[in-house]
Amino acid sequence: MSNTKHPATSETAKADPAWVKWLDRRTGIRSLLHEALDEPIPGGARWAYIFGSGLLYLFLSQIVTGIFLTLYYVPSSDHAHTTVAYISKVVSSGLFIRSVHAYGASAIIILLIFHISQTLLYGSYKGRRDLLWLSGCVLLALMLGMAFTGYLLPWDEKSYFASAIGTNLIGEVPLIGPSMQELLRGGMQMGTLTVSRFFVLHVFILPGLLFAFIAMHIFLFRKKGAAGPIQEDPYTPKLPTQGFYPRQVAMDMAASLFIVLALALVAHFLPIDLGPRANPADTSYIPRPEWYYVPMFQWLKIVSGRWSLIGGIVFPAFLALLFAAIPFLDRGRERRPWRRPVVVASFVIFIGSYVALGVASHRDDARDPSVASQLALQKQAEINYMRQPFQAQATSGTTSASLATSNPLVTKGATIYEAQSCSACHGENGTGTAAAPALVGIDRKYSADQLAHLLHHFSPKMIQGGMPAVDLDPADTDALVAYLRSLK
Ligand code: HEC
Repeated sequence: MSNTKHPATSETAKADPAWVKWLDRRTGIRSLLHEALDEPIPGGARWAYIFGSGLLYLFLSQIVTGIFLTLYYVPSSDHAHTTVAYISKVVSSGLFIRSVHAYGASAIIILLIFHISQTLLYGSYKGRRDLLWLSGCVLLALMLGMAFTGYLLPWDEKSYFASAIGTNLIGEVPLIGPSMQELLRGGMQMGTLTVSRFFVLHVFILPGLLFAFIAMHIFLFRKKGAAGPIQEDPYTPKLPTQGFYPRQVAMDMAASLFIVLALALVAHFLPIDLGPRANPADTSYIPRPEWYYVPMFQWLKIVSGRWSLIGGIVFPAFLALLFAAIPFLDRGRERRPWRRPVVVASFVIFIGSYVALGVASHRDDARDPSVASQLALQKQAEINYMRQPFQAQATSGTTSASLATSNPLVTKGATIYEAQSCSACHGENGTGTAAAPALVGIDRKYSADQLAHLLHHFSPKMIQGGMPAVDLDPADTDALVAYLRSLK
């Protein structure tokens, strides 16, 4: 195990090539590398230690895929869904990247569970590592916040109703709940302000805090060093050490490579769905949260009613505090799990209950035939929606200029429609007036060519109705036809 040769230390400095010396005199790169790579690990490298760097890798992956998604995404209730549909259906590899981002969130939760379990079972929070543990608790909360705020952004039925429940729960908190809920939603109802607030949290505030706390977490970890295996003394390590480089680095990189492959395979073969646009008036929709929130959801169902205050708020807050306080309560030098039965048993009971609640929720849904059929319907609606080609959808806006169009041709056509006064008879957005019928849905009646032909060769009824001749060059005709066919 003992391997105390440090490849980046000063013993080898004389052998360094001239450019390394040049760089080192200016940047101190050699001691920097020494700090980063020669971190001594008591007892040597192990596969059990890969979770932390796996999480770091996933965080970076979320940033890269997230930046890509932000290139297209528009945070407003009018445009969010259309832009996510555009990413999923039109942008090349868009659905893949979106899936990697969405599954990446789940992967972070899974790795967090492993990382926390390992720390707890190994008693690695001991030996003045309490602040390290606390910064980890903050990171856990921030990550759950990221999952919560990201979920709403696609603004489909699923995300809208799940977030409605989530923000309702926040409103239940005594005293500060209602104002916190209003702050988060940007009002009493969920709308554009909610989307933009969740977006700002998801893209600026929480990632900023994550950066700060990840830096603190890594700094504190490096300060106290790795705790090593369970028989190691947490204060003064006695086992022979091994540098972080090369074996642990290789293991961490292999683990990250495995994560990349697993994410890519799942994202490719099971791309995530986007459901139809959220319809707040839909009263039949039954929302279900993401899998990691399902146990909490089930728990709240159980304690609803008379016990909701104690069960839904006081008890979870108590559990969270207890969790954060573990290093202050379990203070001995003993790290072997079988000698720390209270901490280990509590943790096992917690994980067991978490799984049991999740299973119970699925069982309840499967047993209730009306719920099961409604959930199946919702799933089918998602699949059907994903099969439809992308459509730039008209929004609640009143003028044609406010159409949510990602297609410049359609936008141009809308201007021509206004300029040619077509709206005088066919109405704003082609909804029809007494003088002329609606043009909405005209794409089902005529193909683009037929429509272009019709505009230059009027039917008898159009002549009778006094429709003025359309005098447009081919390019403008194309734009007008594209606009007419986009009217839904
Ligand atoms: C003076 C009123 C008037 C104006 C202005 C007008 N239309 Fe019409 N339009 C009509 C009437 C009347 C019909 C025939 C309705 C029918 O078939 O019953 C018609 C028919 C149509 C149809 C065929 C609809 C169908 O279902 O077969 C299209 C397409 C159309 N108009 C497009 C336009 C466009 C584009 C403009 C602007 C360049 C325009 N119209 C301007 C009165 C008007």
